[in-house]
Amino acid sequence: MLMAQSSFADKLDSPSFIREIDSQNMLSALEGFPEQCREAVEIARKAAIPAGFARGVSNLFVAGMGGSGIGGDLFRVVIEDEVALPLQVVKGYRLPGYVGPDSLLIAVSYSGNTEETLNCFREALSRQAKIICLTSGGKLAAEGERNNLPVVKIPGGLQPRAALGYLFLPLLVILSRLGLASFDDRQLAEAVALLNQAKARFSQRSSFPENQAKQIAARLYGKAPVIYGSEGLAGVAALRWKCQFNENSKIPAFCHSFPELNHNELVGWEKLANLTKSFSLILLRDKDESARMRTRIEVTKELIKGAFDEAVEVWAEGRSPLAKTLSLIYLGDYISFYLAILNGVDPSPVEKIAFLKEKLAGVEGD
Ligand code: F6R
Repeated sequence: MLMAQSSFADKLDSPSFIREIDSQNMLSALEGFPEQCREAVEIARKAAIPAGFARGVSNLFVAGMGGSGIGGDLFRVVIEDEVALPLQVVKGYRLPGYVGPDSLLIAVSYSGNTEETLNCFREALSRQAKIICLTSGGKLAAEGERNNLPVVKIPGGLQPRAALGYLFLPLLVILSRLGLASFDDRQLAEAVALLNQAKARFSQRSSFPENQAKQIAARLYGKAPVIYGSEGLAGVAALRWKCQFNENSKIPAFCHSFPELNHNELVGWEKLANLTKSFSLILLRDKDESARMRTRIEVTKELIKGAFDEAVEVWAEGRSPLAKTLSLIYLGDYISFYLAILNGVDPSPVEKIAFLKEKLAGVEGD
């Protein structure tokens, strides 16, 4: 697993080396992310959603899996303080028993064909809940349209996880259009400006000695990342980093959040030193974390960092929760991409997920 620093730099600074591995051009989706975020907001602003659609609604649900489900998680942490109604993200087949005519479900599936999300959608229909679909097409769009429901259509052709802007930001706009939460446009302007700055720093054109994303990818090479963030935005970013390491870099990765990990996982780094040296620790930090949270993280770091091969600390940038969350996510997305290149694996295909979905499509019944 040894690779010289100069070899990392040669590989990641070479557009032709990257093109050869990145056959479906994940890099262009990454570089287009700030623009995707801006466009996603425009799409949601123009989408046909009748005024008063959410009248009488007293609880909110977002259903989605994987790259689509994480849009719901982000939405929850960014909007939580602004919304007066209970809001739950469902990642699975079943809606809670209390979903009924006073519920609003936003069903999110990039392909529109994910069975768990379709099941939630159909269950919500049968319980007369109000439903909005967010998708690029598939069965979700077709069934939504057939039932005269608002369908917010986003562009297709990407891997779902590369369409995070389309899958997340419309949720904020939809809620604010329905009068259920206030989404301040200045947050979006700050986030897009920050993402554009980050793109200049992390892009393939920015060379290894100046590029934090390339450098962290090199430090993580050959190790399984364990990503910790504080509850809320850094915790959701940690989940996104984990999933991107899994799906883009094709490596095992694990995440957990403070304070819960202080009540269990903290103790688990004591033994099996031969194994734990194959892990690298990544701490996602928020400069606005409380003094108590800061102490937790600092003490935890001192207690466990010796068990790992590497300990990397990354701070969120920006002021608003939206900008901070997206800044962490964008850096993690770039790192996972560069790590895929160092691993010599194409970041786009997720053949095992596709295989499993195909097998399930052939199974009759529940
Ligand atoms: C693939 C990916 C997956 C999908 C998940 C659900 O890039 O990120 O996690 O998002 O399998 O599929 P969709 O998003 O089409 O509902």
